Parts: sequence; structure tokens; C-alpha cells
Amino acid sequence: MRRAKISIIGGGNVGASCALWAASKELGDIIVLDIPEAQGMVKGKMLDLAECGPVERFDANVLGTANYADTAGSDVVIVSAGIPRKPGMSRDDLIATNVKIVKSVAEQVAAHSPEAVMIVVSNPLDAMVYTAWKASGFETNHIVGQAGCLDVARFRTFLAMELGVSVEDIQALLLGGHGDDMVPLPRYTSVHGIPVSQLLSADKIDACVQRAKAGGGEIVKLMGTSAYYAPASGTIMMAEAIIKDKKRILPCAAYCEREYGVGGYFVGVPCVLGSGGVEKVIEVDLNADERTLMDESISHVKDLVKTVRETFPELA
Ligand code: NAI
Ligand code: 2OP
Repeated sequence: MRRAKISIIGGGNVGASCALWAASKELGDIIVLDIPEAQGMVKGKMLDLAECGPVERFDANVLGTANYADTAGSDVVIVSAGIPRKPGMSRDDLIATNVKIVKSVAEQVAAHSPEAVMIVVSNPLDAMVYTAWKASGFETNHIVGQAGCLDVARFRTFLAMELGVSVEDIQALLLGGHGDDMVPLPRYTSVHGIPVSQLLSADKIDACVQRAKAGGGEIVKLMGTSAYYAPASGTIMMAEAIIKDKKRILPCAAYCEREYGVGGYFVGVPCVLGSGGVEKVIEVDLNADERTLMDESISHVKDLVKTVRETFPELA
């Protein structure tokens, strides 16, 4: 059986961590591409990772490169190229630099791996998925952004810490863009099937919601750069669902036309992920308060995309 081929564009903190999770799960052959100036770094990191194979017991070709020809025919391409935020910056402050990077990357991905499913990670996420879509010309089901898998993992982590139970037993739902106005949904959150509202006070749930929303900033403040282990872990969960055609329901930035009344933007919604990429967007009922929060988040995504369109008319 042919191994899956996963290419990761941008071999910095997130990209290299994606390679590590993908190798440890033996998802397939892994190519990590960076700019020519960083090729020594990326080749060295990937040789280092390949040398874990005998100990961690994975069989995979693991390669660092600066040459897109090495990525040709990938099944999944992860885009983690671009600058991360520093303390005091919001994700939105990255837009001018990262649009140019993601546009050029997406064009190369389309040229070398036209059948791939592209998972975009670069920030500001919702605008970068749009950029990659426009620049690649991919069908909307073959392009998806990673945000919700990370954001909901943070929410689940904080709830588990508060409750003193296993993270595995917390199920949660989160919608919206990858900004501080993301929409965790306590009404759709349960602990082994028990509504979380029966186990935690409203104040404590709200504290977990607020911490999840600000979770990216909490780490930037501590480390001086943005998170990478959990973002990469969420990204590889998506890649695994696609490569293994698992039909997992995961929160992803997916193209929504009529769904949630979005009107043609990529926003975080529950999706079925399988070999066809985003195979379905699932709509859940929202009450008036949840709808208001979702509308605010969608409006923020639209503003970001407007900035991209105004600054780069070729992406309009
Ligand atoms: P990093 O600075 O460690 O790595 C970025 C890499 O991209 C560098 O190695 C750089 O040389 C490379 N790069 C730049 N231009 C490139 C190009 N044209 N082609 C190929 N590679 C190129 O940054 P880090 O921490 O890995 O973050 C990467 C991006 O992911 C940032 O935009 C960050 O904000 C975003 N991010 C998104 C998350 C999410 O949940 N969506 C979570 C964490 C980070
Ligand atoms: C995060 O949420 C910066 O988007 C990145 O950690």
C-alpha cells in the first residue's frame, strides 16, 4: 500500500511540531519545506526527526527541503509559513506580511500538489484560509483552516483542570473565527455525557470560556512567541482524519455559504473531515445569545477578508 504524503510548508515551531506528531503517529512520508535561507535549519531538523524512527518505531521518509518539486503529489499540505505574533501583537497585526507569504505558498502548492487537501495554519487564520483559497484556486472542500481543534482543546483542558477529571471525558463545541471573539458553547459541552452546567457553576464555566478565548495570548506572554505543540497537535488531528478517511467531526475553518448565514467566508464550524476534505458542514441550533456572539465573530472575519481584498485586489 502506498504511504500517504504530507507536506508542511514553513518548518518553524509549528511546522516542525506538526512533523513530529505526524511521524509519531506514522501518518506517512513527511516533507518539510522552508525558504532557501532556512534550508540548513529545516534539513537538519528533519534529519534529527528521521533519526527518532528506530526508537519511536515509525517507518517514514522524513525530508527537509527548499525545493517544491520534493512536495509534488502530496495528499495533505499544511501551510504554517509566516511570522508569529510577539507580545503586544494581535493575530491581526500579522496580516500584511503573511498574506504575501501565504499567497506565494498557495500558488506553489496548487502547481505541485493540485489534488491535495490544504490545511492552513498561518495567522490571522480566517484571512489566510481565504488567501490560500483565492491564490490556489482549490475547490472549497479541499481547503480548510486549523483553529477550532486548538481552541476547543484549550477549553477542554481548562474545564478538566477545574473539574479534576480526565480531559478525555470532556466534549465541547466551539464556533467562529480564530480571534478573541471565538465562540465556545457551554450549552453544547458535556462531561461523559453530563451537561457541564450540572457540574460547574456558571462563573467557573465562564472563567474557562474566557481563558480559552485568550489562550493564545496567555502563551505569547509567557514565551515571547506563539504556541506550537497544541496548534500542531490540532493540525495533525485534522490531517489524520483526512488521510485515514475517518469522517471525524472536528471544528475547522470551513467555507460556509448558506450555513450559519455566513455568505461565502471561511469560519469555524463543526465539519465532517475525510478523504474528500471538508465533506460536510454541520449546523447546530443557536439561541439568541449564541447567535449574537457568532454574528460578531463572523463580522470580524469579514473585516479581515475586506483588508485582504483592499490591500491585494488580485485576491478579491
Ligand atoms: P516560526 O517563525 O517559528 O516559523 C515560520 C516559518 O515559516 C519560518 O521557518 C520561516 O522561515 C518560514 N517561512 C516564511 N516564509 C516562507 C515561505 N514563503 N515559504 C516557506 N516557508 C516560509 O513561526 P511559527 O510559530 O511556526 O508560526 C507559524 C504561523 O502559524 C504564524 O503565522 C503563527 O501566527 C501561526 N499560528 C497559527 C496557529 C493556529 O492555531 N492557527 C497557532 C500557532 C501559530
Ligand atoms: C494561538 O492561538 C497564536 O493562533 C495562535 O496560539
